[in-house]
Order: sequence, then C-alpha cells, then structure tokens
Amino acid sequence: MAAEVIYGDQLALSLRQEMKEEVTALKEKGIVPKLVVVLIGDDPASKSYVSGKQKAADFIGINSELITLVDTTSEQALLDLIEQLNNDESVNGILVQLPLPDQINEQAIIEAISPEKDVDGFHPISIGRMLTQQDTFLPCTPFGILTMLQSKNIEIAGKHAVIVGRSNIVGKPVGQLLLNEHATVSYCHSRTKDLKAMTKQADILIAAVGREEMIDASFIKPGAVVIDVGVNRTEAGTLTGDVDFESAKAVASYITPVPKGVGPMTITMLMKNTIKAAKNHHT
Ligand code: GUN
Repeated sequence: MAAEVIYGDQLALSLRQEMKEEVTALKEKGIVPKLVVVLIGDDPASKSYVSGKQKAADFIGINSELITLVDTTSEQALLDLIEQLNNDESVNGILVQLPLPDQINEQAIIEAISPEKDVDGFHPISIGRMLTQQDTFLPCTPFGILTMLQSKNIEIAGKHAVIVGRSNIVGKPVGQLLLNEHATVSYCHSRTKDLKAMTKQADILIAAVGREEMIDASFIKPGAVVIDVGVNRTEAGTLTGDVDFESAKAVASYITPVPKGVGPMTITMLMKNTIKAAKNHHT
C-alpha cells in the first residue's frame, strides 16, 4: 500500500490561520509581534527563504522588517546592529539569515542575539534549554517536523528514529527533540560505515543531508515514516529532496514531499516562535 503523504503546506496554512486569529487577539491587547530579518548579500536561495518569511508574517499579521546589508558588511557592523535590535523594545524576534559571508563568524553572530529574541532557536542557551527540556524557542525545522508527526498522531515513544545528517540546524536538534519524545535515536553521517544497514532499522527516518534523492526504497523498512528535509535544485531547475519520493512512497507508511513538505512548516514555526517571544515579553 502506498504511503500517506504528509503535506506540510496544508498543515502550515491551517496553523497560520490559527496564528492569525491569535495575533488579532493580541493586537486588541496592544501586543504587536515584530520580527526583524537580517539578510546579508544577495544569495538567491536566501532571498527566496526570506521572502517566504515576509509573506507568512504579512498573512498572520506579524510586523516584519527586512534589513538588507551588502555582502562586504563587517562582523562588527553586524554585531552593532544586533545590539541595537536587542535593545529595541518593539522587536520581539531577530533572525539573521544563514549562511553568512566568510568575513563574519557565524557562531559569534548567533551568540550575540539575545536568547529572549532568538526565534531561530540557534543560541547555545536555547539549545541547552532544549536539551534539558525547559521552555525555550525550538529550532524551526525540527519543531516543524515534530508538529507534522504529531498532526498525524504518529507514535514516537519507543520508536527507532534514524537521522541522516548531523547539522546544527536540523540533524542534531531533530534527534534531540525525538529523544525528548522518548524515541531511540541514531545519527548517521558521511563517516557512517553502512548507512543502509542503519536506515533499514528506522521506524522514523529523517533525511537531512542535501544530496539529491540519495535515499530510495532500498534504504527504507516497510511501513517506516519518512521525513525529507532536503532541498536540492536539480539540473533542470526544479526542487527535489534527499528521498526518491516515488520509490520510497511504495514502501513507507507516511512520507513528506519536496516541495510542499517540511519547508513551509519551518517558516510557520518561526512565526510561532515570534508570537511566543511577543507573549513572553508582555508577561
Ligand atoms: N538558512 C537556512 N535555514 C535557515 C534557518 O532556519 N534560519 C536561518 N537564520 N538561516 C537559515
């Protein structure tokens, strides 16, 4: 039997509608959530992500401001801007779009953002709070994945989750979130000896490597839940995931597509974090 497809775009839309109502209610209390997105340079992929964020914010009624800086911006100039935004009472969330140009130390920038405004959930304090299961901003892609699983009532506790990819933004934190939900978690990466032997054991398989359709049906245990985080541009210019969707769909129980899968959920959770930041600021 073919897998059920989990459409992130549909779930994202319904969550954004709920958030729109919540923001309307907050505005009646004088609370207007505000997100500032900082984009450095003119990388087309970054620009496209940023415009998706602006659109979502507009739809929900979140006040969003885009600050665009030239790609020769110095680290100090960016640190100064972040300090100014940290001190600006009207700003609830700060997002600096990654990757950054070579002259800027990414970690220094992440650590400069006030943890109270860290809607990306990348600050070491946010990560530490996630690890110790305290209230915090969860990183948006892992949070979106968890929300997708929960939307289908997919059991996580006791399941074997296998993560392919170990980035700070996706692989590591998604494993941690699933561990917090009582999964048994394995991480695979480029040095893993026998990838297929690992992925074949997964009840929940998360593909987050950035290699076009590298996971086909032969990597998947029948009935597994397959979450595709990859966003790869093909030679033909279309987007494709890390999973060979058609072959995987025939063996999985649930699968996420690319596009219209995890991507829209990432942006939606950023909006959720921004609303949370605004509420935190007023309590
Ligand atoms: N670049 C790619 N994904 C992300 C993200 O989730 N947040 C930021 N700040 N930059 C990114």
